[in-house]
Amino acid sequence: MSDAMKPGLSVEECVRRLKRYHYAFKRLHQIFVARLTAEPIYELKMGFSLHAHLCAEHTTVLRKRVGEMREPPLGLEQVPDPNLEILFDEILCAPTKEELLLGIYERALPMLEQALEQHQTDTNPLVDAPSVRLCRFALLEIGDMVEFGARCIANLVDRNTHERCDGWLTMLDDCLMAAGELDGTQSPSGKVISRQHSAKPFKFDGVPRRDARFPDPYNMAVNAEVFLYDEKFPPEPKVLMMFYKRLREIDVPEMMASIIAETPDKPWDYYRDMTRQLWDEARHAMMGEVGFASQNIDWPSKVMVNYTWSLALNTQLKPIERHAVLYFIEQGLMPKTGKRYEWEVAQAAKNPLAALFQDYDWADEVLHARIGRDWYLKDFANAQEAVKYGDECWSRVLMNWESWRTQGLTQHRNWWPDVYRVACENQGRVPDPNVLAYNVSYQSVRADLKEVTGSA
Ligand SMILES: [Fe+2]
Ligand SMILES: [Fe+2]
Repeated sequence: MSDAMKPGLSVEECVRRLKRYHYAFKRLHQIFVARLTAEPIYELKMGFSLHAHLCAEHTTVLRKRVGEMREPPLGLEQVPDPNLEILFDEILCAPTKEELLLGIYERALPMLEQALEQHQTDTNPLVDAPSVRLCRFALLEIGDMVEFGARCIANLVDRNTHERCDGWLTMLDDCLMAAGELDGTQSPSGKVISRQHSAKPFKFDGVPRRDARFPDPYNMAVNAEVFLYDEKFPPEPKVLMMFYKRLREIDVPEMMASIIAETPDKPWDYYRDMTRQLWDEARHAMMGEVGFASQNIDWPSKVMVNYTWSLALNTQLKPIERHAVLYFIEQGLMPKTGKRYEWEVAQAAKNPLAALFQDYDWADEVLHARIGRDWYLKDFANAQEAVKYGDECWSRVLMNWESWRTQGLTQHRNWWPDVYRVACENQGRVPDPNVLAYNVSYQSVRADLKEVTGSA
């Protein structure tokens, strides 16, 4: 009774605060998406993919809640406070990984966490129960994100570097105080903030980068699809090849991030759906990683996972053209050579983990086809035109197989026999000489390249 009788927040005050949490989540989503392509560290790339998705989900819920509170026009695209804008711009533009991590995980997310806790304390839990509920769920995932960030910082930011960042971190605190805290409940400090990192506007970097576990990122020597669809090969090594295909999907979040980052002014649900798919594709990559781990295979030394697809698309095509290619490839994944087939191969190999992965990969793909229909197809007169445009865009993409070799970027070494031999050894099997001899690259079947390859 005493809780339910407390003065709480007026609808007006509640909405004013909710809009600020909304802004924070929206900007964090933007930062995660904008920074994951050029981030080399695999765990950070995956972590940013997840955290972008989580922030997009909470942004969506907050938009809905604001819409329930007598608000049209909602004003959700407005900046609630210019100092908050500077705060998030600064983090977006952070020139180093260390500053980026500290800005996100030691400043922005804890500030948001504190504001949501304050909301729960200040509001009347009876009248504002729907907001209290969304704060609770958001706090749960902010807690996860902050914990992940703390572990990353513990591993990646030494004390000297942390100290070097102190001045800038204090500047972020100044932004917060000038904004009267994230929720705007304190009186603004009045301090005039001058921009540091964001003095020059942010420029998205679409060139993918990878860490040392990707030592040969231009290697296109092992054609996974030709092997997978060849009936003369047995299912067990095909599972290995599917783990490679899954892990190679790390380039889909790299590419999708570029579409999201470089496509402004879409309805919010576009960003939400595209970011969900981005996270799914990151999960698909991790399925491949786990698959190799399940067979005791040290994939960084045995499997040459390239980034040629995301590199080519991000540097050669416009955002809408990249989306067209994605749609075109994902269309091709549904018929007999698609996701059902991969699941059946895993079943035939009697590998329950691979079958489970393919089962969910297939389900995710059905969702992605729907997202493609909702956000890509709509802009075309009919489905054929949309597919045709995707085909055309994909045909224009140049894979510089030969010039990468002459430039010394890769030797296109055929790594397949090695990894297959190790897998056989680990399982006490005798290698099949036909499988061992597989030597089809992406150069020799150039004409098929656009039909079957590509991630997603
Ligand atoms: Fe995928
Ligand atoms: Fe997909």
